[in-house]
Amino acid sequence: MVALYPLVSQFTITGKLEDLRVKSNGRVKYLLLSDKEKDYWIKVPKEQPEFLSQHLKLGCVLKIAGMQKHKIHQGKVEYKAYGIELLATPPLEQTSDKTRAKVLFCQSSSCWNKGGKVACELLKEELERRQITEQVEIKTTGCLKKCKQAPNVVMLPDKIHYGGIQPQQIPLLIDKHLI
Ligand code: FES
Repeated sequence: MVALYPLVSQFTITGKLEDLRVKSNGRVKYLLLSDKEKDYWIKVPKEQPEFLSQHLKLGCVLKIAGMQKHKIHQGKVEYKAYGIELLATPPLEQTSDKTRAKVLFCQSSSCWNKGGKVACELLKEELERRQITEQVEIKTTGCLKKCKQAPNVVMLPDKIHYGGIQPQQIPLLIDKHLI
């Protein structure tokens, strides 16, 4: 007799936010949530709670409800959220040390030539204009293996990756991660 499993069912997972995938327009596309048993990449709906774009930090605790779909032939499960609740923010020391802020720009050709260089120069100008150059370190890196999303930028210490960054987004990134 063959055991039957539902292909689609509900889930509720409470865990720590370990990573994010953010689209170039700032919308969060995937969250990596970790509970005591395993890690889950969870797709986030287009209609997102306000805190996702405003206050989401790695290390915060989220409770996510959604639907899981078993892809039997591929041997994997897809998770799609419909409800996201912020249960706890990370300890203060992880979020308040803005003197350690860093911005990493991929300097390999795909990223650098597709707007990374322009965005990097604009960031320097904007930091100078706001007189916060001393608080932010700008570094260039080799290929981050996300060339399809070029140009790529990573904001530290928040560890948020942005692909397809546009120069006009630089002021928003400063507001969100560097001050
Ligand atoms: S060239 Fe930038 S991620 Fe590969």
